[in-house]
Amino acid sequence: MRWSETRDESKAAFHRKKVTVVGAGHVGATAAFLAAQRELANIVLMDVIEGVPQGKALDMHEASPIQGYNAIVHGTQDYADTVDSDLVIITAGIARKPGMSRDDLLSTNVKIVSEVTRNIVKYSPDCVILVVTNPLDAMVYTALKVSGFPKQRVIGMAGVLDSARMRAFIADEVDVSIEDVNAFVLGGHGDTMVPLPRYSTVAGIPITEMLSRERVDAICERTANGGAEIVGLLKTGSAFYAPGAAVVEMAEAILKDKKRILPCAAYLEGEYGVDGYYLGVPCKLGGGGVEAVIELDLSKDEAASLHHSMDSVMELVRTVDAFGHF
Ligand code: NAI
Ligand code: 2OP
Repeated sequence: MRWSETRDESKAAFHRKKVTVVGAGHVGATAAFLAAQRELANIVLMDVIEGVPQGKALDMHEASPIQGYNAIVHGTQDYADTVDSDLVIITAGIARKPGMSRDDLLSTNVKIVSEVTRNIVKYSPDCVILVVTNPLDAMVYTALKVSGFPKQRVIGMAGVLDSARMRAFIADEVDVSIEDVNAFVLGGHGDTMVPLPRYSTVAGIPITEMLSRERVDAICERTANGGAEIVGLLKTGSAFYAPGAAVVEMAEAILKDKKRILPCAAYLEGEYGVDGYYLGVPCKLGGGGVEAVIELDLSKDEAASLHHSMDSVMELVRTVDAFGHF
């Protein structure tokens, strides 16, 4: 048998998981590249701009001999190519520009996420959907309503990114390896997010026991403004390396059924006193998506901050409901 005859793309696709990334922009392409490097799955990169997903997919293929991965990356405009994906990551939409809040993105992105979700459901009725598009908590709600999927299979990415930012700032402040730092940020993905210093630790020791109140407050404030800080520097768009890495950490937990405990935007039905909305909370993330919501004991102040954050999410969701797309 000749070597060329051993090639069987359908078999390769069958043995490896399949991930579709909708939106081949900054976050989508970064996530696709990182996922390919880890050989998490074969990847379909989908975008409305002709040539862009194809060009980026080819570029990633040409990087594979150097980086040493065999995952197949396929660029397309055709949803038929996404058929039977295990995981679909939605990054399609417009990104934040200087002076623009995440909420300003709402009206455009709700239309895009609704259309994308309808197409995903048609071709991959059993997939897990991971939403990245902003404003996150309202877009993941949109995907849930449009898809009709069970809540466990429609998840939002924000807390992993926000917590990573907090971890980076803590490591800088304490001057220790990032590997020994953990952090938890809950709530909506906006200015009202809730960093939890009590649950943020260096080698298991809460940062509240090692840093002054002033330093802890400064870290929390920088974390809450983390997205805006990058927008202010880039001027033409928003962050994508850390968001791409955060997406891939969640994707790996799902594809490998790792049952990681990660902060995710999950649909709450009574947990934390919230009913019928998405909010960032610690979750067990595995093959089934959100397999459990972990309820932490919150202090009075922490609970009040979480509910304040919830109020801004509710306002966004009311606007989304009023658009009447589902
Ligand atoms: P980008 O502008 O680089 O990429 C967006 C891509 O979506 C573009 O290539 C565009 O052509 C594509 N697109 C637009 N409509 C589409 C449709 N109907 N179908 C398929 N593709 C479509 O933006 P970037 O930086 O990649 O950000 C993407 C989204 O993710 C933004 O909404 C941004 O605010 C959000 N974001 C959310 C984060 C989070 O923590 N949840 C973190 C970072 C970004
Ligand atoms: C961020 O936090 C833009 O939401 C995005 O960087």
